[in-house]
Amino acid sequence: MKILATGGAGYIGSHTCAALLEKDYDVVAVDNLYNSSEEAIRRVRQITGKELRFYNADVCDAKQLDDVFEAEPGIDAVMHFAGYKAVGESVAKPLEYYSNNLNSTMILADVMRKHGCKNIIFSSSATVYGENVVNPLTEEMPKGRCSNPYGWTKWMIEQILTDLHTSDPEWNVVLLRYFNPIGAHPSGLIGEDPKGIPNNLLPYVAQVAVGKLQELGVFGDDYDTPDGTGVRDYVHVMDLAYGHVAALKRIRENCGVDIYNLGTGRGSSVLEVVRSFEKACGKSIPYSIRPRRPGDIDANWCDPSKAERELGWKAEYNLDDMCRDAWNWQSRNPDGYGK
Ligand code: NAD
Ligand code: UFG
Repeated sequence: MKILATGGAGYIGSHTCAALLEKDYDVVAVDNLYNSSEEAIRRVRQITGKELRFYNADVCDAKQLDDVFEAEPGIDAVMHFAGYKAVGESVAKPLEYYSNNLNSTMILADVMRKHGCKNIIFSSSATVYGENVVNPLTEEMPKGRCSNPYGWTKWMIEQILTDLHTSDPEWNVVLLRYFNPIGAHPSGLIGEDPKGIPNNLLPYVAQVAVGKLQELGVFGDDYDTPDGTGVRDYVHVMDLAYGHVAALKRIRENCGVDIYNLGTGRGSSVLEVVRSFEKACGKSIPYSIRPRRPGDIDANWCDPSKAERELGWKAEYNLDDMCRDAWNWQSRNPDGYGK
């Protein structure tokens, strides 16, 4: 199969391109490099020893995207990773978030349909379950209210793609709800490279470990969790990448619309993550307790059994593996792809 990955130079997209190439798929990546570097594409080629065709194009630009489909006839399915993803920034810049995330998806779907490709796998998020969750989360549970525009874009795009299938049952739509992807390719050649000060826990911890940041702020220790700090279902980015490869099976089976949680089914607290990372890097991670971060929930983790049953996919890496690989990437590339 020939796969187009939008946002293919980004964190999850680059790891998924590597996984696809490893399994001998023909892969084309599109990215406008807004939050990524072409170096990630070069490194994926280096890891796999395979050809990865790359187009620097904006998915919101129908002409640019159309040119990619013209240059790459026979695309069987699209994995749509492209989008803005910073929760806090989305509160400050709702128009930019709704515009980029929704327009890119609608323009992409329109161009795909024009070229006869009606198979899409979309990067959704656990955030669509909303704030009042009962763990473990299953795909049958209703979507909830999101606490920020970023979350709403995922919520709305799930609906848009579902409506598209209703209008034309030839469409196959797989909505993958990621829990908290962390870690890096075991080679240490690709990984997460956030611009500026990281918003997410793992890259923050990694930058403290490497000496770029002084101490971690732990956002709240009075949550209703065993040690009072927030609990999340962290999943290794390579497991997530293989989840996308597995999802192609449902596309081949003409699934219609399918939703899958991609997580381990196990929750870890902020302090558990800190301890695991300390083990990985052999240093202590200084931290202090800070106020809760607005919009955070106490805990979420998923029931991943539907993905195991229907895709034959199951997360293989544990938290220590994720921290080991995150540290391997961070310590080899203290400035990310920059240097
Ligand atoms: P990322 O920022 O590393 O990757 C997204 C890529 O999309 C970037 O390379 C960026 O340059 C590109 N992009 C953005 N707008 C574009 C546009 N209009 N045209 C072309 N390229 C564009 O983020 P990621 O962590 O790899 O996330 C990938 C997807 O998964 C996103 O849709 C994100 O919302 C979703 N997701 C991520 C997480 C997470 O914790 N990382 C969790 C749930 C869902
Ligand atoms: N945390 C800290 N200090 C930090 C950063 C995070 O204590 O500096 C805590 C948070 O309070 C939370 C946990 O670490 O308890 C994880 O926070 P992240 O920011 O890493 O991840 P979130 O669960 O908040 O968000 C992630 C993705 C979003 C997605 C959401 C859905 O980043 O894209 O999961 O569950 F929407």
